[in-house]
Amino acid sequence: MNLTRLVILPAVAAFLHMFAPLAVAQSAAQSLDFETYRTKVEPIFLKKRPPHARCVVCHSANNSAFRLEALPKGATGYTEEQSRRNFANVSNLVKPGQPTSSRLLMHPLSREAGGDLFHNGGRQFSSQDDPDWNTLASWVGKGK
Ligand code: HEC
Repeated sequence: MNLTRLVILPAVAAFLHMFAPLAVAQSAAQSLDFETYRTKVEPIFLKKRPPHARCVVCHSANNSAFRLEALPKGATGYTEEQSRRNFANVSNLVKPGQPTSSRLLMHPLSREAGGDLFHNGGRQFSSQDDPDWNTLASWVGKGK
């Protein structure tokens, strides 16, 4: 083996490694349906679910991995461009085809219903029968 090879191979490996997470995120977004996201899923993030605050109120402002665009003042929905950016972010929080392994679904779900230990935004969904939770699950479930 010559010296050039010894130097270049590890460099290539390190380079690929750097981009691997990006490739994974991209393939998740590719197998999830954007139209369903925009018309069915995203409205859930904007909807008031008493006694809880709306997802968008916290998640357009806080620093968690679930990051939504800020809604322009007075707007009741997102532009398509904003929805595309939200879609890209939200896709990182789900495992296509596996709703119950998806952070987006398990984090705000009540613990009794199988959800995570703690969500600062409360138990937004009290059971897996919640219609909105089901909409999220079916969107994720149809991805591959
Ligand atoms: C009152 C504010 C608030 C509301 C409302 C809220 N959240 Fe959160 N959420 C937080 C905070 C703060 C965190 C980060 C700390 C934690 O994990 O609890 C978080 C974390 C998360 C995470 C984990 C992100 C990560 O970093 O991995 C998900 C997923 C999530 N929220 C989903 C939702 C969904 C879906 C809704 C609406 C149905 C919602 N949240 C409503 C405050 C909120």
